[in-house]
Amino acid sequence: MQTFLRLTMEHFLGLHPREAVVQAAALLGCDSTSAEVAEYFDKHDKLSHLRENFLVPKVSDLPHSDLSVADGSKDCIYLSGNSLGLQPKMVKKYLEEELGNWARFGVQGHTEGSRPWAWAENTIEELMANLVGAKTEEVALMNGLTVNLHLLLLSFYKPNTMRHKILMEDKAFPSDHYAVESQIRLRGFDPQLSMMLLSPRPGEDTLRTEDILEVIQKEGDNIAVVMFSGVQFYTGQLFDMRAITEAGHKKGCFVGFDCAHAVGNVDLKLHDWGVDFACWCSYKYLNSGAGGLAGAFVHEKHKDTIKPTLLGWWGHDLTTRFQMTNVMELQPGVRGFRLSNQPILLVCSLQASLEVFNMTNMQALRSKSVLLTGYLEYLIKYFYTKDLSKPHVHLITPSDPQQRGCQLSLSFSVPIRRVFQELEKRGVVCDMREPSVLRIAPVPLYNSFRDIRRFVDILGEALATSNS
Ligand SMILES: Cc1ncc(COP(=O)(O)O)c(C=O)c1O
Repeated sequence: MQTFLRLTMEHFLGLHPREAVVQAAALLGCDSTSAEVAEYFDKHDKLSHLRENFLVPKVSDLPHSDLSVADGSKDCIYLSGNSLGLQPKMVKKYLEEELGNWARFGVQGHTEGSRPWAWAENTIEELMANLVGAKTEEVALMNGLTVNLHLLLLSFYKPNTMRHKILMEDKAFPSDHYAVESQIRLRGFDPQLSMMLLSPRPGEDTLRTEDILEVIQKEGDNIAVVMFSGVQFYTGQLFDMRAITEAGHKKGCFVGFDCAHAVGNVDLKLHDWGVDFACWCSYKYLNSGAGGLAGAFVHEKHKDTIKPTLLGWWGHDLTTRFQMTNVMELQPGVRGFRLSNQPILLVCSLQASLEVFNMTNMQALRSKSVLLTGYLEYLIKYFYTKDLSKPHVHLITPSDPQQRGCQLSLSFSVPIRRVFQELEKRGVVCDMREPSVLRIAPVPLYNSFRDIRRFVDILGEALATSNS
């Protein structure tokens, strides 16, 4: 017991989450499912103060809560960071600053104030680059994700009769699927022949890395671009981006990633892994608000060789951009891919969020995330996977913490709509995919272990009520 009492949170963060839960319960002398374990983890969580930087909706404010079954004065249990992150408190202040600058300076706001509009995005790219493991000059903040994916594919996908395929997941996010399909058609090829869609083995939910690598090895000579997501939006699977990149390069393919569900969620090393290009949105784990400014990455090794196909004035060197010579002085690398001046209001919200990330680092967030999600998995398995005579749960997301981010995708043995409605009544915000899946994303920036404990209890009530 003496040794136990000296155990620190670092000790628990270094264990497999299941082992951490069991050891914490032994230390406290309670059952592993007791709320005391959650309280203990929260008390020793060195990142718990970060939640203070976000506006967590109250149960009473949620449109579908029912105050006859939930305490309206409590914070809701927000588990939807995979869809839309919470609002950082500083967003309002930064927006008001720029609205004020616009009111006071008019057009001169382009060059005045603490965030001159004409180059405002440049001031936050370093913070962004830190989160994806890139050099600042390898990152541009611009457009939306799908637009950036198109711009990148226009330069990286140059098919010929020998090498014309794009390899991607069978169930990639629809927008990625459409983007790839249309790029293939744009180049005069047939998506039926040039789109290689990889599915999990029969009876399995997620792709095996060995299968991805084998396809690249076998078919790589015909593949122009390997394009995976970093974290799969539906299953929550974290792909081995380093291994996929290495395998693609061995066969002469370009390798790119859609990091929408990976950025701000897992530790990315886009530069060190040698990834050729990547894109991401910022409204999920990056908390920039719906439709926020998206990101793009082009590795510096391509800075003088891969050029943007489409040009706009924002790709022009900043120092001479406003001389209006109509002679393009293209910025090297991804910065040359910029087309338009950036929406300052979107820069504000992203800045507010990146500053919160900058109070810690991705390694620390990831360590907490592994335990937080592992704790959720432990409780779900304990309560809802054993008794198959009752409504039960099957985990779609890999159980190995190294193969997932913070999201768990839970498939239920019963139709999910009623269960989801009962959760909403009780102040849980999460994501439903009919017929039977809930996506639950505990976010280490603002979710607590208590949130998880409460969620698991409420899930029990929701299951019982929806099946009564
Ligand atoms: C994996 C993935 N790719 C692409 C998109 C589309 O993003 P956007 O609407 O910002 O282009 C999303 C949106 O949620 C996504 O999750």
